[in-house]
Amino acid sequence: MQPAQLLAMLAAGEPLSGTSLAEQAGVTRAAIWKQVEVLRARGVPIEARGAAGYRLPWSLQMLDAKLIRTMLPPTLARRLGALEVHWELDSTSSELQRRGAVAKDFSVLLAETQTAGRGRRGRKWLSPPGLNLYLSCLKRFESGFAALSGLSLAVGVIVLRAMESLDIAGAGLKWPNDLLAIEDGRPGGKLGGILVELSGEYQGPCAAIIGIGLNLRLTPALHAQAGQPASDIAALAGGTPPDRNRMAAALIAGLVEGLEQFERDGFAGFVADYGRHDLLHGQPLQLSGSLGMFGGIGAGVDHRGALQVRLADGSLRSIDSGDVTVRRA
Ligand code: BTN
Repeated sequence: MQPAQLLAMLAAGEPLSGTSLAEQAGVTRAAIWKQVEVLRARGVPIEARGAAGYRLPWSLQMLDAKLIRTMLPPTLARRLGALEVHWELDSTSSELQRRGAVAKDFSVLLAETQTAGRGRRGRKWLSPPGLNLYLSCLKRFESGFAALSGLSLAVGVIVLRAMESLDIAGAGLKWPNDLLAIEDGRPGGKLGGILVELSGEYQGPCAAIIGIGLNLRLTPALHAQAGQPASDIAALAGGTPPDRNRMAAALIAGLVEGLEQFERDGFAGFVADYGRHDLLHGQPLQLSGSLGMFGGIGAGVDHRGALQVRLADGSLRSIDSGDVTVRRA
């Protein structure tokens, strides 16, 4: 008995007794109890309802590569190098990296859970099973690293376009590539993150592994562990997030189209859309990085994706990397 099997049995959100779960799976009730504990330890909030048995507080859809493929326009599905769903990986991006040269362009890996999910700047990315999306996509480019400046910002735009295609509004972008909920017109909790890792020749060709983590449904425990204000797509969608396979299909379709647009036009093709979703524009910012600590007002991004900050003396400073926080007004 594997935890994936138990999660699939509970996915409808209906209570099921230990006895009926054990019968369905052909195992003992003790084996069910053990897997309940495994899933709980990984952050799945399985409730125990006395005689009624175990249940999830809501229904969920297990990720299914075949189903995701059927949800893609056939012309896009044909362009994919691979489309795989795994129950568990250390990290979808690390797995794509290990495949290296043998992975075809537009190979996409999803995992229900990651044991060593990676965020930017060496941070961990919490990856409980069944709740959110963890996806990585490989895209090769003939150009060198310099032509890829702005790629991670463009991916932020691509994720927002995918959400819009499912009628999910209320999100924006925090430079360089955080996806945030908009709360009272201001940058709110983090909905997702993007990690772009480049390899290959500096002058080209090179490859980008684009990792996307999207919070569809956070539990109170996850909010507490996040270490920063976090939000989920369920909150933007009136309490119920979109079907996970449909969300994955929208992201993959957006990536294929958007990365081809990026290959053609570079970040210039995304600047206007980025500007429309730029949550730092006009906000009082605190910046830290190689240039030290300083404050200023967000003034958009340039054609390469560098953050523009208006300083107190009226001049503009261009920032290529660093951490930004919005100061309380
Ligand atoms: C960030 O720090 O905001 C970036 C988070 C990126 C997380 C995703 S989840 C899928 C892929 N696999 C990883 O290990 N990281 C990325």
